[in-house]
Amino acid sequence: MSEERAGKRAIFLVGFMGVGKSTLGRLLAGRLGTPFYDMDDEIELTSGKKIGEIFEAEGEESFRALESELLRSIVERAPGVVATGGGTFCRPENRDLIRSAGVSVWLDAPIELILERGSRENQRPLWTSPERIRSLLEERLPLYDQADVHFRIESLPSDETVTQLARALEAHQKES
Ligand code: S3P
Repeated sequence: MSEERAGKRAIFLVGFMGVGKSTLGRLLAGRLGTPFYDMDDEIELTSGKKIGEIFEAEGEESFRALESELLRSIVERAPGVVATGGGTFCRPENRDLIRSAGVSVWLDAPIELILERGSRENQRPLWTSPERIRSLLEERLPLYDQADVHFRIESLPSDETVTQLARALEAHQKES
C-alpha cells in the first residue's frame, strides 16, 4: 500500500504495552515510505527524562498531559505511522483527535504474549505485577476495541506481520 493509497492520513497503532507497536510501526513506515513517530521516545527526548522518572517525579496525570500535548503536535505534522503509548487511546480527547487525523489500528495480542514480553523487558512504571497487567488489560479492552481496524498479533513482529498489517489497512481503506 503506497502513501497515496493510505489517503495521506496518519496511521495510529494502539494497544497494550508489549504488543510491538514501536517495532511494527517502524517496519510499516519503512514499507510505506512514510515518517515514523514513536510517542514514548519523543516524550523521553523532549523532556530529557525516562518515562518512569516522569511518573515518579510528576505523577501519571502529568505524563498524560504531556502525551496529549505531543499527540496534538504529531497530528500537525506530515502524516505517517504513529506508535502510541499503551494508554494514549484510553483518553477520550486522544481518541477524538486520532479519529479526526487518521486511521487507528488495535494491535491485539494474547495476554500470554504480553506477559511473556513484560517479563523480559520490564522498564514500564505501570508494570507492577501480572495481576495488575491482567486487570488493566481487561479494563482497556473495550477502549482499544473502538479502533477502526482490529489486528490480531500471534507472535513476535516479522516481515510477514507487516505484510498482513498493510493488507488489513488496504482492506479497511477500500471499505471506507
Ligand atoms: C503506558 C504504556 C507505555 C508508556 C507508559 C504508559 C500505558 O507505552 O506510554 O509507560 O499506560 O499503557 P508502551 O505501550 O509503548 O509500553
